[in-house]
Amino acid sequence: MTRPIPQPGISVTRVFPPEAIAEAAALLRAGELVAFPTETVYGLGGDATNDHAVAAIFAAKDRPRFNPLIVHVPDLDTARSLVGLDERAERIARHFWPGPLSLVLPRRRDCRVSLLASAGLATLALRVPAHPLALQLLRAAARPLAAPSANRSGRVSPTCAEHVMAELDGRIAAVLDGGPCRVGIESTVLDLSEEQPVLLRPGGVPREKLQALLGSIADPEFGGERRSPGMLQSHYAPQRPLRLDAREARPGEALLAFGPDPPKGFAEVRSLSETGDLVEAAARLFASLRALDRPEITAIAVMPIPESGLGAAINDRLRRAAAPR
Ligand code: TXA
Ligand code: MG
Repeated sequence: MTRPIPQPGISVTRVFPPEAIAEAAALLRAGELVAFPTETVYGLGGDATNDHAVAAIFAAKDRPRFNPLIVHVPDLDTARSLVGLDERAERIARHFWPGPLSLVLPRRRDCRVSLLASAGLATLALRVPAHPLALQLLRAAARPLAAPSANRSGRVSPTCAEHVMAELDGRIAAVLDGGPCRVGIESTVLDLSEEQPVLLRPGGVPREKLQALLGSIADPEFGGERRSPGMLQSHYAPQRPLRLDAREARPGEALLAFGPDPPKGFAEVRSLSETGDLVEAAARLFASLRALDRPEITAIAVMPIPESGLGAAINDRLRRAAAPR
């Protein structure tokens, strides 16, 4: 997967000066990817409410797996429209936002952020960045922005626009150049989705500062597989069994199709992509699994999906969902 991601109408990544907020916001609203500075590191931003833009983030990063992403919002009010904040989360958010702290909280029922940004989880990681350009961009785009660090998978996080270009030139529409990042390490990720707070990733806000306000904070091992981000197998699984590499129908099965010629005879068919487009397939994956995961369906049959590009991440997720539990 070394091929640049085709960006309709845009052949080369543009470097925007700080004044070009409106142009950067317009690209984001059109579903394009724009890297932008935060106080921690540069983020690879996309409209978090647009499944296709979120899928394109994974493709641009060459991520072999769908890890959940941090979603950036301009203020606490916007956060409240996406996740549930208990009294404790409100207190922490008011104290540390804007700032290098991401909070993992339960998605609201009406949360408009793509399920792919949560990698299918019932929680969402949010933060309000403390960088004037990031805040201006969030307000101008008027969308929550999913933004992992703007590097390719397995590389170090970029702290200036030149680093971003070295990693992602040709793969994203633009980078907003705000000079070097102040903090230089990623945000602390704190899981407040359950009673016991869990520190999922150390970062810009030291643990001691959080403990002073919260009392004891557990390490990821505390919740076992349930809460440590690298291994969330059980969370991604639908209730119905999954049958991979399906080429013909079995009684009562629904089909998760891929490509132009799905086999016939299924109780219901949902297509990940009629044209065989893997970015589109990633964008539809989690919502499609949910839609088919109903009691009257005996199993979800999945057509073979190529391993190239985002296919690797899609198949990784499907294999975990199909694994015996
Ligand atoms: O400083 C930062 O946080 C940067 C800048 C751009 O804001 N962003 C960043 O995002 O580092 P990303 O996507 O590279 O890091 C996401 C981290 C991962 O460790 C991921 O597992 C965790 O946050 N995470 C995100 N959503 C989660 C969720 N719902 N549950 C558990 N962990 C989550
Ligand atoms: Mg990263």
